[in-house]
Amino acid sequence: MKSLCVVVPKKKAEPIRLRLASKGILRRGLQIRADAKNVYLPVSQRLDVGYPIETRDFEEIEDQIKDFRVLVDMPDELRRYLPSSFDVLGSIAIVKIADEALPFAGEIGQAIIGAQKSVRTVCMDAGVVDEFRTRRVKVVAGDKSTETTHREYGLMFKLDVAKVFFSPRLATERVIVAEQVAAGEVVIDMFAGVGPFSILIAKTRTPKMVYAIDSNPDAVRYLEENIKLNKASGLRSVHGDAREEIAKLGQADRIIMNLPHSAYDFLPEAIRALRPGGVIHFYEIMEEPDIEKRIDDMRSVAVREGRAIKPLARRKVKSYSPSLNFYGFDLSFL
Ligand SMILES: C[S@@+](CC[C@H](N)C(=O)[O-])C[C@H]1O[C@@H](n2cnc3c(N)ncnc32)[C@H](O)[C@@H]1O
Repeated sequence: MKSLCVVVPKKKAEPIRLRLASKGILRRGLQIRADAKNVYLPVSQRLDVGYPIETRDFEEIEDQIKDFRVLVDMPDELRRYLPSSFDVLGSIAIVKIADEALPFAGEIGQAIIGAQKSVRTVCMDAGVVDEFRTRRVKVVAGDKSTETTHREYGLMFKLDVAKVFFSPRLATERVIVAEQVAAGEVVIDMFAGVGPFSILIAKTRTPKMVYAIDSNPDAVRYLEENIKLNKASGLRSVHGDAREEIAKLGQADRIIMNLPHSAYDFLPEAIRALRPGGVIHFYEIMEEPDIEKRIDDMRSVAVREGRAIKPLARRKVKSYSPSLNFYGFDLSFL
């Protein structure tokens, strides 16, 4: 089909693609095209990013989720319990299955493999557990291995879905944060996991240093592998408890706190490590009516630390349950 597109020389394409994706105007349903010289990025509207805009033909990317549902062999009266979506991490699909559909977990897994070319393993997700935020997963179809390499915005993240946390639904959020990093900043990623925020920042910006802390030894092992895999520099992995480790690192310009059930408990230590005027990207899962109260709580923590809070931005990053959402806050502490 025809679409507007931004025409970018190949060597310049990746940062422009990230920028268009973070602004939500890169058309995800269309296949990006390239020739020897240029990359053609399909967009939903005209935006001046310093490159020409043309109209060209693009191939549509099939919406494969519909196909998987029709491939499941199960009684019609139970079809309404079929999952409506699943996450894909590399070659592994992770799907939540309602109790009513559990006897058909194997069929659902086979159908997903049949419908989605890149998927070789289907894991049933029985929820996120423990302080490392890992999922309890059970392979219901395909290869037994739960290790894979996930690609996100041109970067590679090796991980084991049973041993570490990773959410592909945070991809755009990571770009929104990375785009704010100015040259020469010191960034601390307090709960870094296998490194998706840290490595994106190290690869696409020019920070002085990124410190990536995590207490899960498996996450740190994959983080170190991913630093090498992506040839990232200016980044140091730190294994340990963020509360203790951050105190040893000196002042940061920016701190990322992606531990959405308990980041608030670490806020005093984060504020102490932040230079005046620095920014904290804070994440929490909550109901919308509780947001203002939470900002008041954070204001009180800032005052106790002898600082003042200046909220800069707030985003609903994703839904978590019918009443709870995952929110992101950009907060400056003066
Ligand atoms: C929600 S995950 C976020 C991972 C990563 N930022 C991402 O976007 O994929 C939270 C991470 O914090 C780590 N974690 C939990 N408690 C911690 C602590 N006290 N100190 C350091 N890391 C911790 C977990 O092991 C997990 O990898």
